[in-house]
Amino acid sequence: MNEPLILVSGKNGQLGCELNDLASSYPNFQFKFFDRNELNIADEVELKNIFQKYKPQFFINCAAYTAVDKAEKEQETAYCINAEAVGNIAKLCHQHHTTLIHISTDYVFNGKGTKPYQPGDATDPVNYYGYTKWLGEQLAINNNPNTIIIRTSWVYSKYGNNFVKTMLRLMNERKEISVVNDQHGSPTYAKDLAEIILKIANDKNTLQQNQQHFLSVPAIYHYSNTGIISWYDFADAIKEIKQLDCLIHPIPTTAYPTPAKRPAYSGMDISKIAEDFQLQIKPWKESLTNCLQLL
Ligand SMILES: NC(=O)c1ccc[n+]([C@@H]2O[C@H](COP(=O)([O-])OP(=O)(O)OC[C@H]3O[C@@H](n4cnc5c(N)ncnc54)[C@H](OP(=O)(O)O)[C@@H]3O)[C@@H](O)[C@H]2O)c1
Repeated sequence: MNEPLILVSGKNGQLGCELNDLASSYPNFQFKFFDRNELNIADEVELKNIFQKYKPQFFINCAAYTAVDKAEKEQETAYCINAEAVGNIAKLCHQHHTTLIHISTDYVFNGKGTKPYQPGDATDPVNYYGYTKWLGEQLAINNNPNTIIIRTSWVYSKYGNNFVKTMLRLMNERKEISVVNDQHGSPTYAKDLAEIILKIANDKNTLQQNQQHFLSVPAIYHYSNTGIISWYDFADAIKEIKQLDCLIHPIPTTAYPTPAKRPAYSGMDISKIAEDFQLQIKPWKESLTNCLQLL
């Protein structure tokens, strides 16, 4: 019998790259990774052909329109990739009995909360990116009951563009920088997220092989590293760990206007994923240190 096949879209993104690095640690699966040229998820025909050809057991959707500010202007593109395409992937997953693991965001919440958001809490995105990701969640679940959604936040990695790399560059170039201190959330090391995604796929596969019931699907989980901090705290830790000599000024969001509004508080309660999959989730600073060793 062949090993179950996992298809991964968005191969060149932060999460896609981290999953690619980890794939060889899971010889009990076959993997096929696609970049945007090999699979444009907004192209329904390409999607159909890929599903027809591979008939995968799992589809991990790492492809997304992630430019939060640009999404306010490029609404149609963001909608096509983050909502419509996800709906089409989910329909195909349903037809082919494929488990869909889809990644969403803390930006589905309005940020008015004062305690960590639970997966079942009311959603109310405050920007267009968050709205398209919320629609994507709905379509993923409605079109394929066999869907696992993982909402994550403040993602960074040695790959791609992210806050950690931007801060490192700015702190090396400048003597002083300003970072907002009134938006709170949790950093997520994409390598840690990739590990738990593959653990979930592995657990599901093992249970299915033993004809045991998997935890109920569809399911929405929250995942980040532990700890809720501000962007200023995040920048300050980068400075401390890398021993950089740059003055960081804490500023309010009002002093750094952006085209897209951000939720002021997007801390998420991650206990459900930790309990269901028996995870030891790393504290944000430990994972940040691990990543910074590679940069
Ligand atoms: N980054 C964050 O802070 C953050 C926070 C919360 C949630 N998330 C979610 O986490 C997931 C992974 O994010 P990430 O940080 O890894 O994103 P990323 O680094 O921006 O990667 C996204 C990837 O999607 C690809 N892509 C875009 N449109 C596509 C299309 N039509 N067809 C196929 N591929 C396409 C991009 O291709 P190109 O390389 O060609 O552009 C890119 O490689 C996303 O669902 C995102 O919404 C991210």
